[in-house]
Amino acid sequence: MSLENCYNINDFKKLAKKNLPSPIYHYIDGGSDDEVTLKRNTESFSKCDLVPNILASVGEPDLSTNVLGTKIDMPLFLSPTAMQRLYHHDGDKASARAAEKFGTFYSMSTMATSSIEEVANISGGPKLFQLYIHKDQALTDNLIDRCKSSGFKAMCLTVDTVVAGNRERDHRWGFTTPPKLTLKSLLSFATHPKWSINYLLHEKFQLANVSHFTKKGSSIAKGVMEYINEQYDPAMSWKDAEYCIKRWGGPFAIKGLMSVEDAKRAVDIGASAIMLSNHGGRQLDGSRAPFDQLPAIADAVGGKIEIILDGGIRRGTHVLKALSLGATACSFGKGFLFALGAGGQKGVEKILQLMRDEIKRDMILLGKKRISDLSPDNIAYR
Ligand code: LAC
Repeated sequence: MSLENCYNINDFKKLAKKNLPSPIYHYIDGGSDDEVTLKRNTESFSKCDLVPNILASVGEPDLSTNVLGTKIDMPLFLSPTAMQRLYHHDGDKASARAAEKFGTFYSMSTMATSSIEEVANISGGPKLFQLYIHKDQALTDNLIDRCKSSGFKAMCLTVDTVVAGNRERDHRWGFTTPPKLTLKSLLSFATHPKWSINYLLHEKFQLANVSHFTKKGSSIAKGVMEYINEQYDPAMSWKDAEYCIKRWGGPFAIKGLMSVEDAKRAVDIGASAIMLSNHGGRQLDGSRAPFDQLPAIADAVGGKIEIILDGGIRRGTHVLKALSLGATACSFGKGFLFALGAGGQKGVEKILQLMRDEIKRDMILLGKKRISDLSPDNIAYR
């Protein structure tokens, strides 16, 4: 199996599984508890069908959309995801360069393995920064201020990870940041010599945005659940979100919001967008899929705030269903991480190309020229 014969996200997933040591593959692929929400995120898209309009003289559809103060060339972007250096030695730089080529957002996690400044230096494309509120307020302020001076376009605050979800695969495989050789994981690293050599020969692994504040996670190995529970503030509140919105002063999304009541409150505190998300099924298992919750959210706050759907996207048709029901744009995490693990920057470019082609082809088949032409009239429930 090679990049040439990857035609969809599932193919990239198989190749990533082959390339990556098991603890790392399972860290990407896994969810929390019984992984019910993880599965449902994608399954939810098949509850309804697309209803096309014919003879619509579409010609060349326009896939661009405005989100977070930026016009992006396709309605799908890269969700913020931690520790990309583990999936390919070029890590965040590979994803940022690929997203730039497709005129869409690259998003940087607080737990990225390249720094805000490093990525700003190598990519002029639109960049979104994902913020975790740390117990150490100075660190949160430092991240916001550095993003401002590095030309990041937008920021999102993750609100669904005040404590870590129960990721049993991480326990089972002994996944830590940075990776630690244990008896359990040794065989897996030994049987992936190409990955192991690249890991050792390229830039040293570190949580590059925060390593000047703490060695934990960079040179002191920690389980990710343990890291989250030690570093992030479990008492964060709406006041903290308001504080970040003010300090940042630009386009700002609340990520991991799901209820109608909270969506209204996000409008009230002046957020520009909400990212409907359950953290890729990695946090509260049994929580609702973003796509299932979208109609209620669009009904309550559509037109007052942008809605970004994050979770379960595996096909262009998933994006089109979400846009039809009121999303402004969609983002995907696992979908592009498998491609990063499968083939670095080339892999991410290929999945973005495939998704763009799918969205474009399906817009023509639906009889829609612009994203704004999509509406609930294109959807029927069984
Ligand atoms: C995760 C955190 C780090 O889901 O975002 O693993």
